[in-house]
Amino acid sequence: MTPDAPIGLFDSGVGGLTIMRSLMRQLPQEKLIYLGDTARVPYGNKSPQAIIRYTLDCVNFLIKQRIKLLVVACFTASSHVLYLLQETLPIPVIGVIQCGIEELTRTTRSGRVAILGTTSTIHSGIIQSLLQQRSPLITAFSIACPLFVPFIEEGLIEHPALMLMARHYLASLKTENIDSALLACTHYPMIRSIIQEVLGKDIALVEPAMSCARSAQHTLAQKGWLNQQNQKQDCLFYTTDDTEKFRASAHQFLGFPIETVRPIDL
Ligand code: DGL
Repeated sequence: MTPDAPIGLFDSGVGGLTIMRSLMRQLPQEKLIYLGDTARVPYGNKSPQAIIRYTLDCVNFLIKQRIKLLVVACFTASSHVLYLLQETLPIPVIGVIQCGIEELTRTTRSGRVAILGTTSTIHSGIIQSLLQQRSPLITAFSIACPLFVPFIEEGLIEHPALMLMARHYLASLKTENIDSALLACTHYPMIRSIIQEVLGKDIALVEPAMSCARSAQHTLAQKGWLNQQNQKQDCLFYTTDDTEKFRASAHQFLGFPIETVRPIDL
């Protein structure tokens, strides 16, 4: 493996760009390849079998690009396939689940937390059981918020309906005395202010992006695979659907315009 090989990351759609943003900041010399499977988003309401199949399509594509490290920038995909990938791929694999749990356990003081994710992530029970293993004294309240992702994918992050949905989904947390909530879907940081307003300003909202970027840096450093030569950041974006729509969302998510988006068929 050569240090100038790219890092690959993927999500069902544009949510993983919240992880991309942190990787770009933390590792400015690295080449990054982002794949958004926007033709098949959302994954969160699909069967585990479909999610596994879609995930493996994305992974195979990225492996063919000769990546040196894979970041699974999707909680839903991670919930079903992360361990399989970590055990079978010849390159290191970083998943948002482990990074998110790490951040959550560092943040909570009272040990009463919420986990917000897609239906499939919450029903898989993976985050809940990993959290229990890591910190048996933590009490977690899990809530599926299935309608957030379609709105975010459409770029409707300020739509008034999101506030109504958030109030509906999060109502039961009001009486649970939580002090932190894990945004266990990479799309949710885009509607952070809405979730914060509904849960209250004292609740810490935890996301995995910085922890993933640090973990990627640490892993590459340990292997001696950090790219020391590249002066300019090199980012490639692929989408399985409309490139213009992806470009518009990426601008919104990253805060700056991106040039080339390439269409692919998986
Ligand atoms: N961004 C994905 C995640 O982190 C979810 C979106 C979807 O439902 O496809 O779970």
